[in-house]
Amino acid sequence: MKKARIAVLVSGGGTNLQALIDAQNSGIIESGEIALVISNKEGAYALERAKRANIETALVLKKDHPDATAFEEAIKALLCEKEIDIIVLAGFMSILTENFTGAYPERIINVHPSLIPSFCGKGFYGLKVHEAALSYGVKVTGATVHFVNEIPDGGRIIMQKAVEIKDGDTPEILQKRVMEEAEWKILPLSVEKVCRSKIEN
Ligand code: GAR
Repeated sequence: MKKARIAVLVSGGGTNLQALIDAQNSGIIESGEIALVISNKEGAYALERAKRANIETALVLKKDHPDATAFEEAIKALLCEKEIDIIVLAGFMSILTENFTGAYPERIINVHPSLIPSFCGKGFYGLKVHEAALSYGVKVTGATVHFVNEIPDGGRIIMQKAVEIKDGDTPEILQKRVMEEAEWKILPLSVEKVCRSKIEN
């Protein structure tokens, strides 16, 4: 069976990348294969996870390019060279412009650690999302996987999962619960769903 070729873009620890690698090994992801991992941060632990899984890696740094367009063109060139079908943003901490998102309609997937449209958009990333949820006092949060378009966190939603907030939660405790109960589950399921629809069409 033909598989969709997946690139994963990362910036940090890469636990969501690990969830995708594990899902590929266990067969939860069977319609796609991770062909490339691109980091925009030197020393990101996600790169180690990719190397350990024998997945090709690349580093594309903003400081090596004169502007956002050149940075995005460098990523696009790699995606083209590796014949990538689906792009997954897994903790990728750089907002992509319309020049990039417009080139891959409904082919870029992002995981966000809240129930969109709460606590999302520019400035809401990583622990900041959980800090905002706790300071607002919401009792339920969660994670969302969505397609990426020109509006930050504004593309069509693919899957969501709710997670309970408990007394005494800190941003760190909540982040871990949202990852374990929601992100690491719905990201692989969404990637499989999108890859399957691409190879069927
Ligand atoms: C994850 O919680 C992910 O949802 C979040 O950053 C973390 C990355 O962790 N992404 C965003 O906030 C994007 N707006 P990881 O590197 O261990 O996967």
